[in-house]
Formats: sequence, C-alpha cells, structure tokens
Amino acid sequence: MTQDELKQAVARAAIDYVVDGAIIGVGTGSTANFFIDELGKIKHRIKGAVASSEATAARLKSHGIDVLELSDVDAMPVYIDGADEITAQGAMIKGGGGALTREKIVAAAADKFICIADGSKLVDVMGKFPLPVEIIPMAQKVVSRKLAALGGEPRLRMKDGKPYLTDNGCMILDVVGLTIANPAELEAQINNIVGVVTVGLFAQRGANVGLLGTVDGVKKLE
Ligand code: 5RP
Repeated sequence: MTQDELKQAVARAAIDYVVDGAIIGVGTGSTANFFIDELGKIKHRIKGAVASSEATAARLKSHGIDVLELSDVDAMPVYIDGADEITAQGAMIKGGGGALTREKIVAAAADKFICIADGSKLVDVMGKFPLPVEIIPMAQKVVSRKLAALGGEPRLRMKDGKPYLTDNGCMILDVVGLTIANPAELEAQINNIVGVVTVGLFAQRGANVGLLGTVDGVKKLE
C-alpha cells in the first residue's frame, strides 16, 4: 500500500467518529484533505465544520460543507487532524503544514481530538521531525537564541525565497536536533518564550484517539 492509501484508510475510519447533527473541527494537511473528501460524502449528517486553516476552509467549501467561525460555535464534540509525529501516549508534533496555531485553538475547543496518520508517524521519542514554532516576526533573533539554549537548531522556514508566512501573518522556526523526552514540559517551556505564538507540540492536550494506517489495517491508539 502507498502512503496515500494508508492516509485514505484512516480518513475513512475517522468517519466513525463524526457525531451526527454536530459541528466538527477539521485539521490541515494531506491526511486531513483525505478526511475532508470523505466528509463531503456524508455532509448531510453534520451541521457544519470549523476549519484550522484557509486551505482547509476552501476544501470544505468545495464540497459544499458549511464553514463556521469558531467564535460562533458553542459545542464541538470532535476535532480530526493529522500529525507529523505521534507517540503511543498521544503526544504529537504538528505544524509541518504551517497551521499549528489555528489547529491548537480549534482542537482546544473540541471535546475529543482524533489523530489520523499513516503508521510511519508513530515514534517512541519525538524530535526527528523538525519542531515547528510559530513566532512574531520581530522576535526571530531573540526566540532563535532561546531555542538554541534549549539544545535545538532553529531554521527559519522559507517559501519561494522568502520567509514563509502563516495564515496569521507570522513566521515559523523549524527546530532540528531536539530529543523530546518530556513533551508536555518542553511545550510549556517553549510557549513561555516571549515572541512565541505557538509551539507545534501537542502534549498538554494530546490526541484522545490515534488512528494509524498500516499494511495490516487501521490500528487504534487510545
Ligand atoms: C499541518 C499539520 C499536519 O497535520 C501535519 O503536517 C501532517 O500532515 P500530513 O497529513 O500532510 O502528513 O500539522 O499544520
């Protein structure tokens, strides 16, 4: 099976977690895109969706799914999104697609986080995937120094020869060389650096359920 087929399989499995008549939170990335395509097939069963990025909002709308503002939503039973790395305990690195801040906000508003990923994303210790940190642009140097002091090597994310800008107009530092032994502690430490908007560690609020695509079928972590 290809990686895309594994992503498709978990996207299909995630439909079981959609709550009828409710609003659903939707993540960003290629796995989330497969999920949106599945959601389009059962759109009559949901009230609408909250998107974690402009790209996700556009894809939801292309399927005729109503996209609501988070501030207009009182209850959201489920948020479904991919990850760049996930541990058996449900801690994740996210933000490879640059949507980490909105993803964390929408996830925080949901009762349950369902992570969908191909099995290659499961790791014992996170840190091989560069850790994304969204920052206020003027803080680039000062935040970089603090991240280096934590043992990482921050690299400014670039696109088309220019600093990559998120949907929030901020920059991203991708931090390589970290071995993340205690994800919740590192999340708190990095979030405490002045100039950081969000760190792409989702450990304090991790996934409640992980659906991992493998050649032997969809494996569930919970
Ligand atoms: C976007 C994310 C994605 O969930 C993460 O990068 C995984 O992406 P993909 O499903 O394409 O592998 O956090 O900000």
